[in-house]
Amino acid sequence: MSSGVAVRRLSDWDAERLRDLAAEFDTPLYVLDPDRVRENAARLQSAFDAEEISYAVKANTTRPVLETIESTGVGAECASAGEVERALAAGFDGEAVRYTAVNPPEEDLDYVVDAAADHDLIVTVGAADTLDRLDERGFSGRLCIRANPGVGAGHHEKVSTGAAPKFGVPMDRVPDLASEAVDRGFDLVGLHAHAGSGISGEDLQAHRELVARMGDLARRVISDVGTIEFVNVGGGLGVPYREEEDPLDLDAVAAATREAFGDVDARLGIEPGRYFVADAGVLLTRVNTVKPTPETTVVGVDAGMTTLVRPAMYDSYHTIRSLASDADRRETVSVTVAGPICETADVLGEDRPLPDSERGDLLAVGNAGAYGYEMSSNYNSRPRPAVVALDGTDARLAVRREAVADITELETWSK
Ligand code: LLP
Repeated sequence: MSSGVAVRRLSDWDAERLRDLAAEFDTPLYVLDPDRVRENAARLQSAFDAEEISYAVKANTTRPVLETIESTGVGAECASAGEVERALAAGFDGEAVRYTAVNPPEEDLDYVVDAAADHDLIVTVGAADTLDRLDERGFSGRLCIRANPGVGAGHHEKVSTGAAPKFGVPMDRVPDLASEAVDRGFDLVGLHAHAGSGISGEDLQAHRELVARMGDLARRVISDVGTIEFVNVGGGLGVPYREEEDPLDLDAVAAATREAFGDVDARLGIEPGRYFVADAGVLLTRVNTVKPTPETTVVGVDAGMTTLVRPAMYDSYHTIRSLASDADRRETVSVTVAGPICETADVLGEDRPLPDSERGDLLAVGNAGAYGYEMSSNYNSRPRPAVVALDGTDARLAVRREAVADITELETWSK
């Protein structure tokens, strides 16, 4: 299987093809390329060849993505009962599905306890309470304990997870909880931790520290309870959002991860989300307003924070490119690209040098395959966009565009 180049930049997407898709499917529109997802999976599998890889499905749960990743043989890490249901529906083998409980609502536990009986999936608990609640439901499936490793990392404080008290059982309490779980008859198969999201540069050091701590913890738990099958050290592999950023050297990251883990009698696992899908997706949006102001030129577009929330939520940078067919011949101006939502934060990019925009131009927003459509919302009564997946030289609608009627359909109140 070809694993392609280490990164696909926004400039690598074929402008004419994207213009055709926007004309056919309208905007705002997410375009996904399953072939690129497959390449990303192949690169991960080649670097982490001895490790167990799962896909954190929260990054993108659209069907073409789930089916493509399932076909590569990796597992699925799910953050909710809904994600488990969708992963199973897309064909993931139940044994390769893990549900990571974070303050799980009752319905989630009801669902996964049933699903575990039918599909043998693994339930990861991050609190002793969750263990009790599984016990109350007669859970007899495979269990994993999530540790809070006390070290976090990530592209923004809001996505640094490892040291946040919300996640996982404090490290020093894990051995006792593991022994207790085994004594109570649970089938303890693994340990888990996750540092955070978008790890690169100096954060890699923090991630290695997490892996080393998990290696130590695993040795301790194994000596207490006998055996466990795996230790999963989470996801978080970063991707270059800026054109000038280099991609991760996956082989080096894999070697360092292995080394930090050390000699442990259990399989090492990782569960990236973003890495599989980020550069396999772009967002297309149409310019509807060009407004010169004393400070900047505002380029108003039809995609906003309800379409792609990352810039508003984490100040994330996404590359923006003009797809105007004569873009090369236009003067470059510095602009603010802003959406249609009535919020100051609704800006996709500031101080961006772009070919002078005109109403009707098409813009592409890069690296939109991860946490893009997935985090879209209906604020301001904005219907969510459509998603198309490339299929050879064709493209297929994967998720239809919402209408206002889809939103109001849920309302039960009438005069
Ligand atoms: N495993 C666990 C337990 C997680 O909580 C996450 C992400 C992952 C794996 C996958 O992380 P990844 O490889 O995709 O970085 N919405 C944010 C990211 C939040 C991710 C939350 N958990 C963003 O758009 O940057």
